[in-house]
Amino acid sequence: MLKLDTGFLDSFISSHELNHIEPGLNEVFSQLTNRTCPGNDFLGWLDLPFTAEFDGIEEVAEEIRSHAEQFVMIGIGGSYLGARATIEFLSPYFKKNKPEILYLGHHLSPDYTHELIHHIDPAKLYVNVISKSGTTTEPGVAFRLLEAQMASQLDSKELGKRIIATTDKSSGALVHNAKQKGYRRFVIQDDVGGRFSVLTPVGLLPIAVAGLDIRELVSGARDMAQYLNEHTSLEKNPAWLYAAIRFILYQKGKRVEVLSSFEPAFHYVAEWWKQLFGESEGKDGKGLFPSSADFSTDLHSLGQYIQDGYRHLFETFIMIDEPRHRVAIPGNEENLDNLNYLADKDMAEANYQAFRGTALAHHDGGVPNLTITLPGRNEYYLGQLFYFFEMSVALSGLLLGVNPFDQPGVESYKQNMFALLGHPDYADRTRELQKRFKTI
Ligand code: PA5
Repeated sequence: MLKLDTGFLDSFISSHELNHIEPGLNEVFSQLTNRTCPGNDFLGWLDLPFTAEFDGIEEVAEEIRSHAEQFVMIGIGGSYLGARATIEFLSPYFKKNKPEILYLGHHLSPDYTHELIHHIDPAKLYVNVISKSGTTTEPGVAFRLLEAQMASQLDSKELGKRIIATTDKSSGALVHNAKQKGYRRFVIQDDVGGRFSVLTPVGLLPIAVAGLDIRELVSGARDMAQYLNEHTSLEKNPAWLYAAIRFILYQKGKRVEVLSSFEPAFHYVAEWWKQLFGESEGKDGKGLFPSSADFSTDLHSLGQYIQDGYRHLFETFIMIDEPRHRVAIPGNEENLDNLNYLADKDMAEANYQAFRGTALAHHDGGVPNLTITLPGRNEYYLGQLFYFFEMSVALSGLLLGVNPFDQPGVESYKQNMFALLGHPDYADRTRELQKRFKTI
């Protein structure tokens, strides 16, 4: 089971403050589990560890793995980050995946898109286009390009085999396109929002295509869900404790949470976490800003600010107890680099002491910090972590008094972009924005 260690919070949060918040947590947990909280039409994620389906997904993934040299996953936000986080966290660093996994539709970069299109071979390619709304511009444009490229080289039967759409049950342009062209389809259930959808076909199909064990991932989430449901106290429930700590630190003026890890593979899990917490809590003028750091790399860039800059930060470390490999640091007779004091030590020990030294230094510099430790880097513990964070953000958002399951703010940029690109439904806004640009 993942562990939460609060040792470096002692001088920032008292046990009295934690006890004071426990009744509030009890209340929001009841609202969540009785499904009476704000946003209660988006609570399907609570059940996913128990209801996730594998049949169909595993067969299609196996077909893709045996026929494709390349696999492009098209999606953005919640229709992208969970799968990428899992694949990048769990795949070996330097072994090439077969199929090669490529990502498109998560931005509008012409250079990236051009280079990807020239990198792929439509004859060896499968595509999974993922969009719940079916109307998101970035993946829509990406799919239009890729579909045209494939259609220029493959007949419609072959195209129907190579394109798989993950969509809403019945609405949105992608559903209609898929139905009309006979693409195979997986459905995202109505009551699961994008950022909570990693355990639906949105995440599970690409993860299975990468050769990872989706049953283990879900099993980790299930054990975590069961544990959190059965242990309803701050002392025993790490999600309650994490939510409480975040809320108290926010009340004390902290505005930024930095999620820091000492394992580079964690990078995209932090990206997933940033979306989960940023979109769930950042509304109504409230919320902690979620940011992340990759250590030791960022200790030599952001480290200065964290140690010594404006004191509005707290930090959550993620550590992995057991690395997959052991690397002994060699001795050297000449010792010209003066590193013989490390001879025969394992790199994991050096990495762990780098973490301890950092946690202590940041604490002493006025940055409260806590540590989440995963016993290992595998599907099962990542599943636990996903569910732990989902439960934590739900509780934390409800404590903050926001609806953690909507994202109204994401619409603003979209409407401006539609207007500026000349979308026919936005003519008035187009005129209004053009005037404003002239005055700036
Ligand atoms: O969490 C969310 O709901 C968003 O991040 C969406 O997942 C993202 O905007 C993509 O939306 P869609 O799947 O409709 O294309």
